[in-house]
Amino acid sequence: MESVISVPARPDEPLPEWADGTDPRSAPEVVERFLSRYSDPGDVVLDPFAGFGTTLVVAESMGREAWGIEFERERVEYVKSRIDHPGRVRRADARTLTDLDLPDVDCVFTSPPYTLESATDDPFQNYDGESAYDDYLDGVGRVASELSAVLADDGTLVMQVSNLIHDGHVTTLAWDVADACGEYLHLDREVVLAWEDGPKYGYDHGYALVFSTGE
Ligand SMILES: C[S@@+](CC[C@H](N)C(=O)[O-])C[C@H]1O[C@@H](n2cnc3c(N)ncnc32)[C@H](O)[C@@H]1O
Repeated sequence: MESVISVPARPDEPLPEWADGTDPRSAPEVVERFLSRYSDPGDVVLDPFAGFGTTLVVAESMGREAWGIEFERERVEYVKSRIDHPGRVRRADARTLTDLDLPDVDCVFTSPPYTLESATDDPFQNYDGESAYDDYLDGVGRVASELSAVLADDGTLVMQVSNLIHDGHVTTLAWDVADACGEYLHLDREVVLAWEDGPKYGYDHGYALVFSTGE
């Protein structure tokens, strides 16, 4: 895969009516590009921040075994309604995913909940409760640590993430997430996602960070 690829930032499909706020979804085209590259038919694919289920729907359509974890109850029910094997989606906290009875995972494609450096709410609890940016990065590291325990020896984590510009201030979310995950997994490369359909979070591009277990 090239180091810069042109892809849509957003899915065509509208969000369900009950969903409000910013659209956090990955575009299916992005998921498909990376699952084609980093998994094979029959492989186990996990999204620990399953959101509205993009990774799982695409993974099943490609003949992968799709598993998901999501914190928000309404999203869990929605994802279950979209896939062939709803029993593989759990409502849980990704920071403790090794408590779940998951199979060995060949490929993770995910995108973390986003937050600004200046934010004081907790993105890991649906922006409820207090949290600082350092707590957030600790949480991202905990998820990476848990993923390192369930990934197969030759498994891959692909983390879609962007830096953010808000009120003229840059939050280097992508680079900070790379550092946090890099404590537990080996960062093999980053792929620049050049948005075809206009800027997102203040940028005309995002990143797919590709990690391996390093074994
Ligand atoms: C960027 S969105 C993922 C979007 C998803 N990839 C899609 O395309 O629909 C991040 C998701 O992480 C979920 N989340 C936040 N904290 C979580 C936690 N502690 N455990 C599991 N999921 C969590 C959020 O509810 C949100 O749906």
